[in-house]
Amino acid sequence: MDLFDSINRRKSCRNYTGQPFGKEQLEEIREAINGFELLYPDVPLEYRLAAKTKGIFKVQAPHYLIVSGQGKAQEAENAGFLFQQLILWFDAHDIGSVWLGKTKDIEATNDNDIIVIAFGQTSESVHRSENEFKRKAINEITNAPENPCIQAVHLAPSGMNLQPWYLEESGDKVLLYKQSLKPPLSLVYKKTEVDMGIALCHYALACKRFDKSFIFNRKDEEAGKKGYRLFGELG
Ligand SMILES: Cc1cc2nc3c(=O)[nH]c(=O)nc-3n(C[C@H](O)[C@H](O)[C@H](O)COP(=O)(O)O)c2cc1C
Repeated sequence: MDLFDSINRRKSCRNYTGQPFGKEQLEEIREAINGFELLYPDVPLEYRLAAKTKGIFKVQAPHYLIVSGQGKAQEAENAGFLFQQLILWFDAHDIGSVWLGKTKDIEATNDNDIIVIAFGQTSESVHRSENEFKRKAINEITNAPENPCIQAVHLAPSGMNLQPWYLEESGDKVLLYKQSLKPPLSLVYKKTEVDMGIALCHYALACKRFDKSFIFNRKDEEAGKKGYRLFGELG
């Protein structure tokens, strides 16, 4: 299934009917997840479903998916990349969803939990039109606003809608920068790596759509762009 078409019509849903899915539908969701690609195949992730969670900025939903890892580096961006495919798959199946950065499992306190996604049936449409997206002006996130892969990143969701990325076209490469958050924001918001994985998911799906190869080399360097660190190179 091509998830690209959901990029410019999905939205975060925060109002659910409360009606849970049955076993068969949940099984279909599990099968879909098994078919998605990891950014780093050697960084394993797990997930579990829960009916209850706790925490601030929480949304009431019939289902929560809790993503966990093993405490390895780069798990958070891997989680963003993998489960943004699920968010788009949900859109394509008229199922509402929203990422939840401050929500926790109510029972277990697993230090390796990374992020939560709420999902379920909604009473309103799960889609919106492209002009309803609230995003920075594209020139604030790139020097190449005509690049269709960068346009796909422009629409990507991020925690607090911070859009903490900058994509700089440089020769035949695109340099991906991650914004370095400063206090007090950095004390409140700690999911920037998940956001970066989400952005890379949109970039990769656009590459597939426009017949380009998706090659990502992870970097972590001060690279002379004030307020940002170099996060990777796309080529
Ligand atoms: C990593 C991450 C964490 C998020 N955490 C929350 C949250 O705790 N509560 C919430 O209501 N929305 C949360 N969101 C949803 C964002 O607020 C939303 O994606 C952003 O405002 C853009 O809106 P859109 O998703 O409708 O395009 C989160 C999104 C991401 C990617």
